Amino acid sequence: MTPLLTVRTLHAGYGKITVLHGVDLDVKAGEFVAILGANGAGKSTLLKAILGMMPGASGQVSFAGRDLAGLATPRRVRLGIGAIPEGRQLFGEMTVLENLALGLYVRRSFGPPPRAGAMAHVFELLPRLAERKHQTAASLSGGEAQMLAIGRALIARPRLLLCDEPSLGLAPLRVAEMFQTLDRLRRSGVTVVLADQNAKAALRLADRAYVMETGRIVAAGTAGALADDPRLRESYLGG
Ligand SMILES: Nc1ncnc2c1ncn2[C@@H]1O[C@H](COP(=O)(O)OP(=O)(O)OP(=O)(O)O)[C@@H](O)[C@H]1O
Ligand SMILES: [Mg+2]
Repeated sequence: MTPLLTVRTLHAGYGKITVLHGVDLDVKAGEFVAILGANGAGKSTLLKAILGMMPGASGQVSFAGRDLAGLATPRRVRLGIGAIPEGRQLFGEMTVLENLALGLYVRRSFGPPPRAGAMAHVFELLPRLAERKHQTAASLSGGEAQMLAIGRALIARPRLLLCDEPSLGLAPLRVAEMFQTLDRLRRSGVTVVLADQNAKAALRLADRAYVMETGRIVAAGTAGALADDPRLRESYLGG
C-alpha cells in the first residue's frame, strides 16, 4: 500500500541556516506516528515543511500520491492536511464557534460539509467544546484552548492531522486528556503525526516513531521497539 505521506531527502532551514539535513519519513493511512526529539531537534521545522511553510525547502513531500512541490499551505490544507500549530494560534476575542468557523473557511473551495453538521461532528469528538461554544477563546483554560485548536483543524475533516506539542503547558491531568483525544481521533480514522517531547506518553499511543537529533532521523521503529531501546530510554525516556 502506498503511504499517505512520504517525505524524501528533505532539507529546510531559516535564512542561511539549514536545520533539516535530508529527512525521510513515511506515514501510512490510519497510522499514528510520533516524532520525538529534544528542544531544537527540528520537529516543528519538519511539520512546517510538510505544510509548505518553509520557503527554500528542497526534497520531496507527497500526500495521497501527489507531489506537493510548489503548493502553498492553503492548497495543502484543502488536500486534507490539517494542523495544530505550536502555540495554538487562536483568535482570543472570537468565540469558540467563530474560531471553529475559521477552520471551515480554509476548505471552502473543497465544498465544505454543511456548517451545522461540521460543528456537530467536532462537538461529538470534543464534547467539552460544546459547553463553551459562546465563550471567547481568550477565556478558555489551557486544556480547553488546546481542544479548540484541535477542533478547528478537525472541522475541515483532514485525512492527516499534524500535531505540534499539543501537550505543551498543560497540567498532567489535561495532558492525559489530550492524549486520549488524539487516540479517539485516530480510532475515528484520522491519520496522526504527533511531535512531542513527552516521549513516554507519545510512544504509548503511537504505532511507530521517529527520533530526531539536530535535523536528522537517528532512530525509527515501532513504538514498542523504541520504548525498549536502551539508548532511547537513557536520553528521552528518563532511564
Ligand atoms: N524562525 C526561526 N528562525 C531561525 N531559526 C529557527 C527558527 N525556528 C527554529 N529555528 C531553529 O531551528 C532549529 C530547529 O527548531 P525546531 O523548532 O524545528 O525544533 P523542535 O524540535 O520543534 O524544538 P522544540 O521541542 O523546542 O519545539 C533550532 O536550532 C531553532 O533554533
Ligand atoms: Mg517545536
